[in-house]
Amino acid sequence: MTVRRVGIVGCGQLAQMMAQEGRPLGIAFSFLAEGDENTGCVEGLGTIVHAREGSDMEALYRAMGSPEVITAEREQVSVELLRALEQFCPVYPRPDAFEKTQHRVREKTAITAAGLPVSPFVPANNYDEICAAVEKLGYPAFIKSCENGYDGKNQWRVDSDEALAAIRDEVLAQQDEQEYVVEQGVNFSREVSLIGARTADGNVVTYPLAENDHYRGTLLVSTAPAPHVDEELQRTAQEYLSTLMNEWDYVGVLAMECFVSEDGLLINELAPRVHNSGHWTLAGAETSQFENHIRAILGMPLGDTSAERPAVMINMLGVDKEPSQPNEGVWLYGKSLRPGRKMGHVILLDDSQEALAARIDTMLAELYGETRRPA
Ligand SMILES: Nc1ncnc2c1ncn2[C@@H]1O[C@H](COP(=O)(O)OP(=O)(O)O)[C@@H](O)[C@H]1O
Ligand SMILES: [Mg+2]
Repeated sequence: MTVRRVGIVGCGQLAQMMAQEGRPLGIAFSFLAEGDENTGCVEGLGTIVHAREGSDMEALYRAMGSPEVITAEREQVSVELLRALEQFCPVYPRPDAFEKTQHRVREKTAITAAGLPVSPFVPANNYDEICAAVEKLGYPAFIKSCENGYDGKNQWRVDSDEALAAIRDEVLAQQDEQEYVVEQGVNFSREVSLIGARTADGNVVTYPLAENDHYRGTLLVSTAPAPHVDEELQRTAQEYLSTLMNEWDYVGVLAMECFVSEDGLLINELAPRVHNSGHWTLAGAETSQFENHIRAILGMPLGDTSAERPAVMINMLGVDKEPSQPNEGVWLYGKSLRPGRKMGHVILLDDSQEALAARIDTMLAELYGETRRPA
């Protein structure tokens, strides 16, 4: 039997976990590093190839072992590079999906074009346009740069004229070509996310919704299934995600972050990849999101997404020591330690949400001390 080979653009922890979960299926991996990207996370998991400006594409593809399909571990990947690689094999998710989701206005426009709800938004290209948009939408408003935003970076929440005036210099200090989106602040009761996978022939699976708690814009805790979710919310989320995946002829895992608000479920943003709020599936679901992503892009039957017991995933932000509290799995990515950096995660499983709640608190205390929050 010939070995099936998958190429991954990117060398971080998401690539690491895709390979760790795909290798038991007999699949071989290679990794494409862009520029001077750090490759520590994927060392030992397959061939690592470096793409530089002007690299010969065919030579790169061959050096990657001529994979049968190429995927990417991050959203901010060069679409041009993905399109160039598409000459040699399918690239899933399709480059079009990256192009849409890399840019907040394009993303929101695509979501509304599919008939799905987002918070009211106005594109803005400079400080004056930002002010006009805030005037129209009211306070609180979120101002986000269209590109290169993640973990709450490159965005501001403003709730008064003073706060808006205070960001003026910061906005003006950025390159004048910067594009922004101004969003109406959503009064949400909680944030949830749905992860699904789709194959090229249209099979779709989705996981139970996860509820996400962020700290300073970065995910800290995901609980799945999200506590007290009624069937209707789960069904609505599934319909949204399937609609998007079918409309885009999407292949692979797609993650959808949502607000649960008085006006119902609103889509906040999408990620065309495996997602931090799905890491709980490594121990908590029959098939992990990483395995299902690999299955989806290779056209293999998708695995069971059900979860037998409630699960929680706690991010290890700026800490990388193995916790001593009982747990159902610790993943350390092997990255060098920096404050706030995603160093690993720990998963807890229990018989009830109540039993989990007490254990989350103890685990947060062990990882972060009295405040239960990262430094
Ligand atoms: N329109 C909004 N209304 C209320 N909260 C928001 C809004 N936009 C963002 N947030 C808050 O900021 C967090 C980060 O914003 P998000 O758009 O998800 O950016 P990132 O790409 O950095 O994750 C969200 O998880 C949410 O808590
Ligand atoms: Mg987000």
